[in-house]
Amino acid sequence: MSNRMWGGRYESGPAEIMAEINASIDFDKRLAEQDIRGSVAHAAMLGAAGILPEADAEAIQAGLQTVRDEIRAGSFAFSRELEDIHMNVESRLRDLIGPAAGRLHTARSRNDQVATDMKLWVRDTIDAVDGQIADLMGALAEAALAGAGIVMPGFTHLQSAQPVTFGHHLLAYVEMLARDRGRFSDARARLNECPLGAAALAGTSFPIDRHRTASELGFDRPTANSLDSVADRDFVLEVLAAASICAIHLSRFAEEIVLWTTPQFGFVRLSDAYTTGSSIMPQKRNPDAAELVRGKSGRVVGALQGLLMVLKGLPLAYGKDMQEDKEGAFDALHTLSLSLAATAGMVRDMVPDADAMRRAAGAGYATATDLADWLVRALGLPFRDAHHVTGRIVGLASDRGAGLEELSLDEMQRVEPRITEAVFEVLGVDASVRSRTSYGGTAPDNVRAQARGWLERMRP
Ligand code: ARG
Repeated sequence: MSNRMWGGRYESGPAEIMAEINASIDFDKRLAEQDIRGSVAHAAMLGAAGILPEADAEAIQAGLQTVRDEIRAGSFAFSRELEDIHMNVESRLRDLIGPAAGRLHTARSRNDQVATDMKLWVRDTIDAVDGQIADLMGALAEAALAGAGIVMPGFTHLQSAQPVTFGHHLLAYVEMLARDRGRFSDARARLNECPLGAAALAGTSFPIDRHRTASELGFDRPTANSLDSVADRDFVLEVLAAASICAIHLSRFAEEIVLWTTPQFGFVRLSDAYTTGSSIMPQKRNPDAAELVRGKSGRVVGALQGLLMVLKGLPLAYGKDMQEDKEGAFDALHTLSLSLAATAGMVRDMVPDADAMRRAAGAGYATATDLADWLVRALGLPFRDAHHVTGRIVGLASDRGAGLEELSLDEMQRVEPRITEAVFEVLGVDASVRSRTSYGGTAPDNVRAQARGWLERMRP
């Protein structure tokens, strides 16, 4: 049987394998709500513009509500023969209201229809993801406030560098996530133009009102070029790029949780809620949620790469290749949402071990910079000389297997005779973090103020 929606000049139906490669209904049924929203706006406009008799426009809108209710109730029978969500909805509409349903597709095409649906879906999804990022930021800022005074090693090259505060470390992720929100919101503002009414590619001869449908659907304005309207998928790319960057931020944090929860680090503990045991090694608590957040970032980035490749070399305007925008985007944004929720759950679940972090903070001569700074401040040494003197003192301590603060004044004076007792005040990790009061620095008071500022700004 040929397709009843477009099969006028067709005598037979598709080869089985053609139906298999062509049908998108299995995944684009996700666009049902957006598809019906777009069709309702289109029908209302056609009626108001006098392109359709009012009675038909009204019957179409009422029928579409019924279709939506059936889909929401799970009683709608999706059919692969009808290829995609657009034709499934329209075909059901015809069952419900008769031939007037055939007038809905006046002055539009599936090309502008699918672009509109996808924009609506992406926009809805950005709004949901934005709320989730904000929630995670709130969880991190709470934990940062609680951990503002916890001293931990700060790393560069994953080597102990200088002591920092746990709160400061968590707030670094709040900054990243704030930029992620900004990227999503920039993308949202740019995509918010309505393609509906561009028709197949060239516009239409019917006197449609694209400004009306655009504003009805919450868009800022209609798109300006009909070819671009149906060919553009950079709004999907942009959102996948923002999603990729966000997923990579989550992956870096997940990696830190994996490290921090090892017995070797022992900086934080996750409860049974976010770990799994081993079937053979009874002592294990594996941070699976964190590992999955780290691993799943791959498929988010993969979706971006995939769609970039789909669009590369694609001539204007629409090509069926573009149907390949959907599965990757659906999967990537679902994955991001899941990862955000799991990360927020872990942040609320994790319990820092302040003693373990403080012990580690003191190891590896992390206050060597503080000693060098003291030599500059107290003795007036040029920083390069102070660096050299400190290096020799660290060497001494290392030979003895002692920490800096465990050396005697005598030993230090053998390297630099002008060093006084006062030096010991800067060799401890607490003094070190307390002294880092420069704007953006790790001092507990700074961190408290920043965390409070974020919590204030996050309040709905
Ligand atoms: N399922 C199609 C897609 O997702 C809808 C548009 C089909 N347009 C066409 N001219 N065959 O891209």
